Amino acid sequence: MINMKLNAGEKKGLISRHLYGHFAEHLGRCVYEGLWVGVDSPIPNTEGIRNDVLGALKRLNIPVLRWPGGCFADEYHWMDGIGPASGRARMINNNWGGVEENNHFGTHEFLRLCELLNTEPYISGNVGSGTVREMQQWVEYMTFDGESPMANLRRENGRDEPWSLQFFGVGNENWGCGGNMRPEYYADLYRHYSTYVRNYGGNKVYKIACGANTDHFHWTEVLMREAAGLMDGLSLHYYTIPSGNWFGSKGSATEFGTDEWFATLKNTLYMEELIVKHSEIMDKYDPEKRVGLIIDEWGTWCDVEPGTNPGFLYQQSTLRDALVAGINLNIFHKYCDRVKMANIAQLVNVLQALILTEGDKMLLTPTYHVFDMYQVHMDNQLLDLQFDSPEYTYGDVSIPQVSVSASQDSAGAIHLTACNLHHEESAKFSCHIEGALNRQVSGRILTHTSLNAHNTFEQPDLVAPVAFEEADLLDGVLEFELPPASVLVLSIN
Ligand code: AHR
Repeated sequence: MINMKLNAGEKKGLISRHLYGHFAEHLGRCVYEGLWVGVDSPIPNTEGIRNDVLGALKRLNIPVLRWPGGCFADEYHWMDGIGPASGRARMINNNWGGVEENNHFGTHEFLRLCELLNTEPYISGNVGSGTVREMQQWVEYMTFDGESPMANLRRENGRDEPWSLQFFGVGNENWGCGGNMRPEYYADLYRHYSTYVRNYGGNKVYKIACGANTDHFHWTEVLMREAAGLMDGLSLHYYTIPSGNWFGSKGSATEFGTDEWFATLKNTLYMEELIVKHSEIMDKYDPEKRVGLIIDEWGTWCDVEPGTNPGFLYQQSTLRDALVAGINLNIFHKYCDRVKMANIAQLVNVLQALILTEGDKMLLTPTYHVFDMYQVHMDNQLLDLQFDSPEYTYGDVSIPQVSVSASQDSAGAIHLTACNLHHEESAKFSCHIEGALNRQVSGRILTHTSLNAHNTFEQPDLVAPVAFEEADLLDGVLEFELPPASVLVLSIN
């Protein structure tokens, strides 16, 4: 039995809704096919954006969407993607399969998608191969209300009103695909480029500097030392690779045994150590925690599905990915004093996708369902939760068996999300709730008897949440049993 104490009187910080952010890159079939089919497509669409995907995303209330990359961002020249589609430049997508990029999805189309989803745009600018002037003009084009060359160009292209632009990334992975820079060099470039990312009118841009890869702590150190005062956020990228091997086989998304199940969840938990260590460095330069840690790429990275283009990063998503998502989101909550945004990679058809498409068909992955179940936490107060997790031991390695998080919304309801990482043992909880007079408990659970269960176009609902009615709440004590390999959400009203 796991004895847990939940203190509803002790708030630990705000769980920003931006922790539930997303990422859509011009990569494989994410933007083209996954989101954008064009106005002439037989697939039902709204101004070129497919309706089935749009509907599914609306249900998630996604708070922020990052675009156009990723590595693509540092080769993207935004002026190639405006004006009549037939006249737009055709280019090579050098990072992702060397395929043609026709620029039919550009600034106007992306910002329209954000409007349709009621989501905040997060644009990644080009530092690697773009100029300061190009970056300055892009922001002017999108956000300036008055008379100016860029605002007038926007009007010529059919948009009178400026858009509101909340988040702007000054480069992406500039230690790698974004220019192979040293942190000292990038820190100077960040200072230079970000100067010209202007606030026009009432639009206030939250500027995000390119941060470290995984455990590159020196990068964080240099960026904070040299440029903290000029940034609002600093990014961090960490992917869960089942085999732990970047350069060899990463492991199949669907064909795995209990050893790879365990290794994948263990590698996921490493996110916590990374946040703690990067935060310690940030604390030295920014003890008030003004600069947000922005985990703008995370998720499972597996081998591509057999027979698909290796440059397209198309992988299936199983129950294991649901656990990866649930664990990461619980970790982000825990460090919400520093972690202000997170963007899973990626939205459709790429890496740990929420949605897969094939022609006019669409399916929701187990990862989608976790985002759906967890959305009750957005903009809530994190609650204090005391418990000791039993150990989940495989061979001679042990990790915590459960991952749990709790929050309270503005109406007073308490929401608890719990993951049981164990592949074959259930976990019983007895949770003493202090400071709450709520009586009704309801829940949903996502699980399956097969660890590699996943949804296919033939069986799209094999892994889907169902009502969970086995939680009892009596005299302030909540009792429930989590089956092996499961993700649960409970709401106490
Ligand atoms: O998400 C796929 C790629 O992973 C991104 O383009 C890049 O930023 C990262 O290496």
